[in-house]
Amino acid sequence: MSAVPHLLLAIETSCDDTSVAVLEDGRTLRAHLIAAQDVHRLYGGVVPELASRAHLELLPPLVSRALAEAEVRPEQLDALAATRAPGLVGSLVVGVAFAKAYAAALGVPLVGVNHIEAHLHAATLEHGESPLPAVALVVSGGHTELVEVRGFGRYRWLGSTRDDAAGEAYDKVAKLLGLGFPGGPVLDRLAAGGNPAAFAFPRPMLDRPGCDFSFSGLKTAVVLAVAPHGAPPHPEPLLADLAASFQAAVVDTLVSKAMRAVDALQARALNLGGGVACNRELRARLAVECGKRGVTLRIPSPRLCADNAAMIALVGAWMLARGDEPDP
Ligand code: KG4
Ligand code: ZN
Repeated sequence: MSAVPHLLLAIETSCDDTSVAVLEDGRTLRAHLIAAQDVHRLYGGVVPELASRAHLELLPPLVSRALAEAEVRPEQLDALAATRAPGLVGSLVVGVAFAKAYAAALGVPLVGVNHIEAHLHAATLEHGESPLPAVALVVSGGHTELVEVRGFGRYRWLGSTRDDAAGEAYDKVAKLLGLGFPGGPVLDRLAAGGNPAAFAFPRPMLDRPGCDFSFSGLKTAVVLAVAPHGAPPHPEPLLADLAASFQAAVVDTLVSKAMRAVDALQARALNLGGGVACNRELRARLAVECGKRGVTLRIPSPRLCADNAAMIALVGAWMLARGDEPDP
């Protein structure tokens, strides 16, 4: 076992957020910056080529600002971590290439971190070590994963989406309702004023055993429900009912499968991660279900749910402490 690096700089560029963090002793965030790329709003979704170019522009000044906020000079850094995969290839390359050059110039080790593994542990930054065994639910624009966690590096995949990710379903439904991008926050807000029983949308895969998900049929059901009402803009009450009914179907599915996993494994904690973990209905329903079972529900604050370099820093620090070989 090596020691946790004293000062570690982490870089996350897997999708459309450019983020940099400085973590001290594997615990204390000295700086954590996230630059969202607004350019994608114009296109109703993330455009990979534009994301890479934006990372290229945003990353160097963001690193300088993070170091300034942390009051750390580059030569004081002991290690670097960067998101290695999964993600948009062009975006990942920008972060990894920058990190490699920076680490080489400073003569410090660099580790490549798996983005999903980082989401699994994001809650630890604020809530401390998770009771084990735990189940992690990672729900974002790119992923819907249920994972058994028995310790750092000890995982078993329980289920994932067979088609659209949960956040992707939110984004696609918002787009077809003319509500812009990203869709999650606006549908979440609208749903609060609507009737979740107004439309009987399907609960995909709930009738099947296991923990896999499928959200593309649900999206089609929304297309069919809205068709008689013509093209957007739609009146607010209709949008609210559609949002509430759609959200009820997504949340029912996520909560049922997560609880199926918790019960099967007798898990002591449920750890949430990913942008969809910001969803108010999902948080509330999981709180009730975990409460009934005496299971600890650990939800990061919104900044740590979405893509961020703090979680990359945490896992990078643990990897180096475990003695993982740094990248050449
Ligand atoms: O983790 P994230 O920032 O990026 C990745 O996709 O990896 O997650 C973004 C996703 C988007 O699909 C967005 O619509 C969704 O998270 N999202 C939400 C909410 N806030 C963000 N979905 C449902 N309810 C929300 N409040
Ligand atoms: Zn993510």
